[in-house]
Amino acid sequence: MLDFEYTISTKIFFGKNKTMKLGNELNHYTKRMLLVYGGGSIKQSGIYDSVHKIIREHNITCKELSGVQPNPRISSVRNGIKLCRQNGLDFILAVGGGSVIDCAKAIAAGVPYDGDPWDLFLQGDSKIKRAIPIGTILTIAGTGSEMNGNAVITNEETAEKLAIHSDLIRPKFSILDPTNTFTVPKEQTAAGTVDIMSHIFEQYFSLTKGAFIQDRLAESMLSSCIHYGPIVMNEPENYEARANLMWTSSLALNGLLSYGKITDWATHAMEHALSAMYDVTHGVGLAIIIPHWMEYVLNDTNAYKFADYAKNVWGFTESDDMSLAKESIEKTKEFVRQLDMPTTLRDVGVNKHKLTEMAKKSVPFGDIGKFKKLNERDVLTILKNAF
Ligand code: NZQ
Ligand code: ZN
Repeated sequence: MLDFEYTISTKIFFGKNKTMKLGNELNHYTKRMLLVYGGGSIKQSGIYDSVHKIIREHNITCKELSGVQPNPRISSVRNGIKLCRQNGLDFILAVGGGSVIDCAKAIAAGVPYDGDPWDLFLQGDSKIKRAIPIGTILTIAGTGSEMNGNAVITNEETAEKLAIHSDLIRPKFSILDPTNTFTVPKEQTAAGTVDIMSHIFEQYFSLTKGAFIQDRLAESMLSSCIHYGPIVMNEPENYEARANLMWTSSLALNGLLSYGKITDWATHAMEHALSAMYDVTHGVGLAIIIPHWMEYVLNDTNAYKFADYAKNVWGFTESDDMSLAKESIEKTKEFVRQLDMPTTLRDVGVNKHKLTEMAKKSVPFGDIGKFKKLNERDVLTILKNAF
């Protein structure tokens, strides 16, 4: 295990009716805030009204940025920054999924930044010196954005999708009420489940030795997705299943699994290129790419890691590492099919002639992946296999 410093600072309110904690939290931070949300699901579910009631009761001035799209755009970020500056807003409440939360984080970092916010994505995290505080009410399990310092934004003019990372944009608090996810449609539930699993894979498939506790935690989290994902597909209002998926999503990408390890992140780089070019749902893109990444990177040196996955997550026994590894990849494919997800790039409308450009966009800052380093040619092969 490598050395690390632990900073998971987000305060979590988990459980039914925890939105009632919002007023108290807002009182700590603001009298003038920006509310950020997406395309309207929070109005249909009634969360929007509950939030406004609390805001009114606490005499907080509130401006709104609505219509944040899945795969959030830099233009929404620019609009949010303008609203904050023009109205002297000093706090952002994001109510929604990863897209809404990431947009709020980018606004938070952009308000005190003296330049265009896209610079922050191009020039690296050290550019982020300050950010205004944010809080979240999560409505879909998947990204873990509610408890981490990452934001992923698409530049619609250049068809690039890039990330920033900073503890300065970790939410100060997040309200996680699993009942708020009861209305998430099947396709998004499946996509969220695969996204959670992908975050675990990115950190689990590592060559760092001796991180026993991180690896066993990762396996439990994978088991949680494999157990509860299919249940929630058939029973959208199953509280236990929604609750376990929600908490797994937060734990899977808040730092817990990556502290003390070198982590991979190649499938995310590829998927971000895919969703930048085709506006595909993030978890759907991952579901297509992951099995092909697994098949491509598997070799005699790293098969032991896949064998652990086969034994400790899928319950296989009694075989050599390479056979176990191959079985685990088959099981992963089968699981994706069980969730009724697309399995090829062709299925989501990708044009074969765009794969070269997609491979190039997957490596914007050079080779990707630490479990197995991949260059542009490797990526192109994986994408062709996934086509
Ligand atoms: O916009 P609304 O109307 O709210 O509808 C959303 C959206 O259409 C809907 N939805 C959310 N909660 C709902 C609901 N519908 C009914 N009932 C509810 N309770 O679901 C759709 C998808 O929402 P979105 O926020 O896009 O989903 P997700 O949380 O999967 O976020 C995906 C984005 O996060 C990025 C992805 O790349 C993508 O842009 N990621 C962010 C990460 C991070 N910050 O750490 C890490 C991830 O790897 C990922 O890259
Ligand atoms: Zn992801």
